Amino acid sequence: GDVFGCVADIGWITGHSYVVYGPLCNGGTSVLFESTPLYPDPGRYWETVQRLKINQFYGAPTAVRLLLKYGDKWVKKYDRSSLKMLGSVGEPINHEAWHWFYNVVGDSRCTLVDTWWQTETGGICISPRPSEEGAEIIPAMAMRPFFGIIPVLMDENGRVLEGNDVSGALCLAEPWPGMARTIYGNHQGFIDTYLKTYPGYYFTGDGAYRSSEGYYQITGRMDDVINISGHRLGTAEIEDALDEHPDVPETAVIGYPHEIKGEGAFAFIVLKEDVAHTKDVKEELRSIVASKIAKYAVPDHILVVKRLPKTRSGKIMRRVLKKIVTNQSSNLGDITTLDDPSVVTEILDAYQKYKMEQSASS
Ligand code: WT7
Repeated sequence: GDVFGCVADIGWITGHSYVVYGPLCNGGTSVLFESTPLYPDPGRYWETVQRLKINQFYGAPTAVRLLLKYGDKWVKKYDRSSLKMLGSVGEPINHEAWHWFYNVVGDSRCTLVDTWWQTETGGICISPRPSEEGAEIIPAMAMRPFFGIIPVLMDENGRVLEGNDVSGALCLAEPWPGMARTIYGNHQGFIDTYLKTYPGYYFTGDGAYRSSEGYYQITGRMDDVINISGHRLGTAEIEDALDEHPDVPETAVIGYPHEIKGEGAFAFIVLKEDVAHTKDVKEELRSIVASKIAKYAVPDHILVVKRLPKTRSGKIMRRVLKKIVTNQSSNLGDITTLDDPSVVTEILDAYQKYKMEQSASS
């Protein structure tokens, strides 16, 4: 009898599997949401929740970060008492977004699950639920492997990391139903991408941390790991710290070659609409990173942009930013999944202006 509301784009696997097949196979009522979270205003999701009495609301961190920027009033305007469960998927959810989703949208009474999976896995693989009734949920953590999923973390030399409080490349040790079996027309490509890096294991391409309690936290794509003066860290960790700033809803961090440190962090940030004191914000951001992570993690550069390059499903295309910063903008690679290609020139202009200011002041 539940009304399940997954607001993903139908062309994405979350769309067909979690909007169509899953709910209908289970005899549920499924909501088809064909719009954007801002149309006609930032209350659209919550108006839909009220009108259709949605019980489970499943969305992406990118939308949560976007809506948070417009304040609580758009949420509070609508009755959300039908909600029982909230879900997040698609990218690591930063702490600020998690708490806003939980406290404001869910009125601190709904279960919020951060669910990790991939198109290739066909369904959720790591999630705080199912579990025993009322089991603890740690904010911004996917936590528990789903039935039959055996996560394994690998070190840089391809060895299985034992024990807890370790970070590594996330692999799955056993096959599962729903697992992708090939890439259409390119079986060798499938083997090379997923099965060759760590022989005997399925390699997800993601990095993860296993906490001292044995719970999993996804730290981001392995290509998004940077090495600053010998410290390896996921760009998502720095982004999570930057996102804590009340005037900064969205950030993207990339590594770039640095003469002394090997790699340095370059941060792209989006400011709330009415923020003018860019200089203070940058200073505050540096101290947040220094205190939340460490001094070495503080970005060398912070560039304010209007928006970030994103795919249609809301994932930030960090490789586009990396190309811009490493002067390879003439060769951006495949950007066909980019939501709005005009964002590239917009960021390129901001970057060139920033570079000119930098050289003028030095
Ligand atoms: C990649 C998969 C995920 C279903 C939709 C299809 C990232 C996904 C999480 C999460 C951190 C996540 C991973 C993964 N991802 N969920 N809860 N926490 N990262 O998505 O286009 O196949 O992308 O999305 O990097 O590998 P996809």
